[in-house]
Amino acid sequence: MPLVFAGACSHAPGITGRAHLADPEIRDELYRHFDRLRDALEASRPDALVVVGAEHFANFFFDNMPAYCVGMADFYEGPIEDEAWLAIERRRIPGAPELSRRLITRILEDCDVAYAQEWKFDHGISVPLHFLTPRYDLPVVPVNINCQEPPLTPLHRTWAFGRALRKACDAAPERIALIGTGGISHWPATPDSGMVNEAFDRDFLDKFVNNRKEDLLAYTDEEVYRDAGHGGFEIRTFIAVAAATEGATGELWFYAPIPIFAVGCTVATMGVQ
Ligand SMILES: [Fe+2]
Repeated sequence: MPLVFAGACSHAPGITGRAHLADPEIRDELYRHFDRLRDALEASRPDALVVVGAEHFANFFFDNMPAYCVGMADFYEGPIEDEAWLAIERRRIPGAPELSRRLITRILEDCDVAYAQEWKFDHGISVPLHFLTPRYDLPVVPVNINCQEPPLTPLHRTWAFGRALRKACDAAPERIALIGTGGISHWPATPDSGMVNEAFDRDFLDKFVNNRKEDLLAYTDEEVYRDAGHGGFEIRTFIAVAAATEGATGELWFYAPIPIFAVGCTVATMGVQ
């Protein structure tokens, strides 16, 4: 049946791990919007949650780096990082292997995609789940787009993948919710960590929530690297959501640069009509 929910949020490890170091007012406002996103997600009564993320070398490395990968495991485990560092307890997260198999089969009609029957979630998926499915009772289908190591999949291919993912979700009888999770401008694990290009982020988010395909696909990797850092390559996760909700627009519920979290933090929804 048609997708029942779509949204986007940030996943920086500082959001949970360095929460105590942030300005409490802005942190609590971010958390309030994560809660709001969870309420909206729950209100859509999903049977499964597809999370389009950008994992960070925890599962996919230089020996084998798929541009796109969909999980097909009975369960996942996360976070892979130190629990105290991330302030999230490690646990098993239920998968939806049969649904994954059907989604992958359908996506393959339009796009080549890798699949994985083993996957340990890093903060890229663990942080969103911490806020959005705190009881860990909603089966998850993880989707990864390589946003880390060039050569990266071109943005127009990301769009094609997002459309294929939507077609696959709509063809399934389950009620499926979709969350994209990435950072916009950020420079993690570099001396510039904590820097945020707010103007770039706000301009990108305006294009995202208004689902302006031409504008979203006009970015070059060189421009993104210059203005938004290597972390900015994660715009692919947002673009996949925009493609999956092509023709619809969304709402930006929260955006604020939070340097101690090393990113501008975002919470947004997208229409699914
Ligand atoms: Fe990331």
